[in-house]
Amino acid sequence: MSVGRFISFEGIDGSGKSTQARLAAAHLERKGVDVVLTREPGGSPGAEEIRRLLVEGDPERWSAETEILLFTAARRDHLEKTILPALARGAVVITDRFADSTRVYQGAARGDLRQLVDQLHSAVIGRDPDLTFVIDMKPEDALRRGLARKSGEDRFEDMGLEFQIKLREGFLRLVGDAPDRCWLVDGARDAAVVAEEIASRLDAFL
Ligand code: ADP
Ligand code: TYD
Repeated sequence: MSVGRFISFEGIDGSGKSTQARLAAAHLERKGVDVVLTREPGGSPGAEEIRRLLVEGDPERWSAETEILLFTAARRDHLEKTILPALARGAVVITDRFADSTRVYQGAARGDLRQLVDQLHSAVIGRDPDLTFVIDMKPEDALRRGLARKSGEDRFEDMGLEFQIKLREGFLRLVGDAPDRCWLVDGARDAAVVAEEIASRLDAFL
């Protein structure tokens, strides 16, 4: 039986999700909580292999359908190998992205495929986080932050500003659709200030 808590961080590229996921995990660890910090695409050895196929190379490398299958395959492995075992032992799992990213990114790229995303999710994933922090900020500013990193994993950033604007709208819609699960955070502030807000929300939640 799952007794742990499952928490995700979502938002457009460069919004500060990874930074905030890390700070949230450190906050809970300081309090003695058993925390597993993980990410998508990836989070298990098999899913990390699939990640490389997804985040590197030509933006046109995969069709939207193939991309949805690859993200879902990676997520299933992540869930089986990392997330569910950790929840079963009572840990708090913090993931940098989860199924909301597929809903928003693949939904933004091809809105007509949202049904496929939802069908696959219910067939092979069937689980959403208990709490989701959606870090919101202007795409222009986030893109500047993200590309400054030069990570070599910029396939999605390379899709441009228009795409990031659609993504932001998608994430805001998502918060509207699932207000009980999602917590909207203004990411345009100093990282420490954002982290403080998230830590107090986490403390209240746990
Ligand atoms: P994401 O995971 O959403 O792509 P990151 O956490 O990797 O974002 O942050 C992207 C870049 O912006 C990194 O170089 C990071 O150090 C920087 N950064 C993160 N949060 C802030 C912030 N609140 N203010 C300024 N820079 C930030
Ligand atoms: P990530 O490493 O989180 O990128 P970043 O740190 O730049 O935010 O994710 C890699 C890319 O994969 C990112 O651009 C978002 C995209 N993505 C999807 O399109 N669908 C998904 O289901 C997931 C999990 C990620």
